[in-house]
Amino acid sequence: MSNKNASIKISPSILSADFAQLGNEIRAIESAGCDWVHVDVMDNHYVPNLTIGPDVCKWIRPHIKTVMDVHLMIEPADALLGAFAKAGADYISVHPEAHPHLDRTLQVIAGLGVKAGVALNPSTPINVIENVLDRLDLVIVMSVNPGFGGQSFLHSQIQKIRDLKTMFGGRDILIEVDGGIKPSTAPLVAEAGADVLVAGSAVFGKGAQSEDVYAANIKAIRDAANRVINGAMG
Ligand code: DX5
Ligand code: ZN
Repeated sequence: MSNKNASIKISPSILSADFAQLGNEIRAIESAGCDWVHVDVMDNHYVPNLTIGPDVCKWIRPHIKTVMDVHLMIEPADALLGAFAKAGADYISVHPEAHPHLDRTLQVIAGLGVKAGVALNPSTPINVIENVLDRLDLVIVMSVNPGFGGQSFLHSQIQKIRDLKTMFGGRDILIEVDGGIKPSTAPLVAEAGADVLVAGSAVFGKGAQSEDVYAANIKAIRDAANRVINGAMG
């Protein structure tokens, strides 16, 4: 069913994991019940932080049994799209401000056999994607300004989720919300129509914790979201 969040997905951001043991961290969150794995790629140019590139994605890919959800905060990404596809990304999302020829960038992603996404910063209006909707599999609503984990959720972005759902019509485009998601904010975005919740610090804490801790953290977010979806009980 299009644009229904009846089974909300949790995509922990490995930005808050222990980078010295990414394979272990990914196995732990998947055993703990996550649905996707969110990979934040930053270049210290588009955003003021620096993380990983396609080679690390290639090395972590065999540890991911679910879905590799790659969020590119790099400008420009075009020359590296092939490398991220080859590394095994299932979804690649780009920021429109970093890609003036967004339609072409999305065509390239699709041509690589990867699902295409766009990430909208808090200050970015939804009309930037109005003319590329048929090229999209995913829209990420940034509920913080991109660059860092552990920031406070921006309540101003909740209405954007509702506006996107209206804009999508019957199209099968998932809405992912990224930034400041925890048990207290998950219901707000689930109620507005989010399908996928990214959570970094609320799942990993400071990282390198037990699978049981991760399972409890994921369950707390999922239960909080499910309580407001279609009358489902968490
Ligand atoms: C921010 C990243 C997010 C971040 C979320 O630029 O895109 O994915 O890791 O972290 P939390 O959940 O801690 O806000
Ligand atoms: Zn992200």
